[in-house]
Amino acid sequence: MDFKNSETKTNLMRAFAGESQARNRYTFAASQAKKEKLYVIEQVFKYTAGQEKEHAEIFYNHLKEMAGETIMIDGGYPVDIADNVTQLLRYAQHNEYEEHDPVYKAFGDKAQEEGFPKIAASFHMIAGIEKVHGDRFGRFADLLEQNKLFVSNVETGWICLNCGYVYTGTQAPKQCPVCSHDQGYFIRLELSPFED
Ligand SMILES: [Fe+2]
Ligand SMILES: [Fe+2]
Repeated sequence: MDFKNSETKTNLMRAFAGESQARNRYTFAASQAKKEKLYVIEQVFKYTAGQEKEHAEIFYNHLKEMAGETIMIDGGYPVDIADNVTQLLRYAQHNEYEEHDPVYKAFGDKAQEEGFPKIAASFHMIAGIEKVHGDRFGRFADLLEQNKLFVSNVETGWICLNCGYVYTGTQAPKQCPVCSHDQGYFIRLELSPFED
């Protein structure tokens, strides 16, 4: 199948549009988290926004053969506007799961069928990443809804994302005793991206 006449070419541009928008939505959501003094959630959104940029770039680079041309697409894109961060996490979770399955799975299968195995692999592997994103957003939304973001039923480690201080207890300190940053900077050690 000729790439220029393929559905895969259009799907790549749809995915590029979707990833680009997700990156912006998460950057906006990070600002909302900052307003709510939830530095941890701000970082989760920024971290994920960076990964969506990478996905966008991977899909975009697969379009190299179309350089200089314009690709027309249609697509549905969400209006995820809310002034509370828990709702934004839920919206994000929902969209990640949808990207995971059916959207990227179907795009991957189509690419395979049309004879573009490398592009199919990108869609299928990124589909897997979006599942992880959805799970992570959901986990933080759960913690916020249960008022457990800074409280644990069992003793656990809490790391200050500003200075690295680790406290062990059932609750994150109201204020970091080392750098004086407030509770919003603390994350459960096990959820810190740099720990197992
Ligand atoms: Fe993505
Ligand atoms: Fe994602």
